[in-house]
Amino acid sequence: DSGSSALDRFPATSEGWRSFPAPAKLNLFLHVIGRRADGYHLLQSVFQLVDLQDTIELRVRGDNQIEHYNPLPGVDPEDDLTVRAARLLQSHANITAGVDIRVTKRIPMGGGMGGGSSDAATVLLALNQLWGVNLSRQALMTLGLKLGADVPFFIFGRNAFVEGVGEIMTAHDTPETWFAVLHPQVHVSTPAIFKDERLTRDTPSITMRDLNVAATRNDLQPVALSQQPRIAESLKWLSQFGPARMTGSGSCVFTICASQSEADRVVSLVPEEMTGFVARSLQKHELSEFAEQ
Ligand code: C5P
Repeated sequence: DSGSSALDRFPATSEGWRSFPAPAKLNLFLHVIGRRADGYHLLQSVFQLVDLQDTIELRVRGDNQIEHYNPLPGVDPEDDLTVRAARLLQSHANITAGVDIRVTKRIPMGGGMGGGSSDAATVLLALNQLWGVNLSRQALMTLGLKLGADVPFFIFGRNAFVEGVGEIMTAHDTPETWFAVLHPQVHVSTPAIFKDERLTRDTPSITMRDLNVAATRNDLQPVALSQQPRIAESLKWLSQFGPARMTGSGSCVFTICASQSEADRVVSLVPEEMTGFVARSLQKHELSEFAEQ
């Protein structure tokens, strides 16, 4: 059936593990246009998938256990978004199988690149196939929203103009782009950014028709800069090479480069106290066909 052929691209090892990519994102801009009664903020943003990826290894179990093989030190595995994603799908669909989970992190944590959300989305998409759940993409996105506002985007799996708190998607194809990304070596707490009083002043909404990425901004950036001065230093450094902006609630900042070699050159010049890397745009999540439209 079509399910098994989708999985053929991700062959199992002799121990039964399959490896799946979890791509990062950059917010090309992020406007805060309002606030819901529950405190969540209404956003407008273009989410861009990039080739920096975590790796999620999964192995289906015959019993109903969900086991995380390499949880982060000091983190209760039950709080890990990959475990929470697996448990959510298991109970939602009354699945009797379980899964072993192993995560290789490359996306910086607390960096605004959606690593935790992407890991969770990849678990939902992969288990939708591995467990034979066959939920629709929309149903998976609705489930994913319970785990975090950025999870639906990664399940949608294409670059998108995103609205609501992060659940309303309009596909928005972007040209191939090379980004130089700087990680200022500080971690930002997303709730601490969104709590700032400055974000209670709504800014006007835009429509996709007048979308002009160059004329936009990240409304979370001034808040993050006042909480973490090192982000300001990174922005200042990167601005020598072109307009630079923060992604998500920070801390990573990026600039668009004219070519791969230009991005390589910028990153080769990054000062020691910051970490830089090159990221290339992706058109889609490799697991996007793991949920039917
Ligand atoms: O959903 P996620 O876990 O990514 O959000 C973390 C926190 O960021 C939320 O608890 C909320 O305080 C804030 N947030 C928000 N508006 C959004 C997304 C997140 O206020 N659209």
